[in-house]
Amino acid sequence: MNTYRYVFYLKAVNGIQFMPKFKIHLPRLDKTIETEGNKTLLSLLHQNDIPLASSCNGDAVCGWCKVQIIRGLESLHPPTNRELHLKKRHLFKDNERLACQTQAEQELSITTTYW
Ligand code: FES
Repeated sequence: MNTYRYVFYLKAVNGIQFMPKFKIHLPRLDKTIETEGNKTLLSLLHQNDIPLASSCNGDAVCGWCKVQIIRGLESLHPPTNRELHLKKRHLFKDNERLACQTQAEQELSITTTYW
């Protein structure tokens, strides 16, 4: 049994949660964050002391946490209705997402207008 199959076998048999690690690249800051996912981009950035604007504490109200996805947009889950509402109201471009509503699930490159 190869390693990949073994990990999923363990998960199935023992209920082990398997989260692959991947990287979030921040080219304008010349930084890379490693994560296992399961967190919003906003919380990941703040945990790593990377400044990202927010005034609603991640409730999808202010729109200040906008990030531009440079690479990996296709791997993200579709925006929620709340995010779509804010994207429309603030005239977001197609590659812009709310960091507080977006969870990375694969490798990404992101930036903001102020980094
Ligand atoms: S932190 Fe306010 S919309 Fe994301």
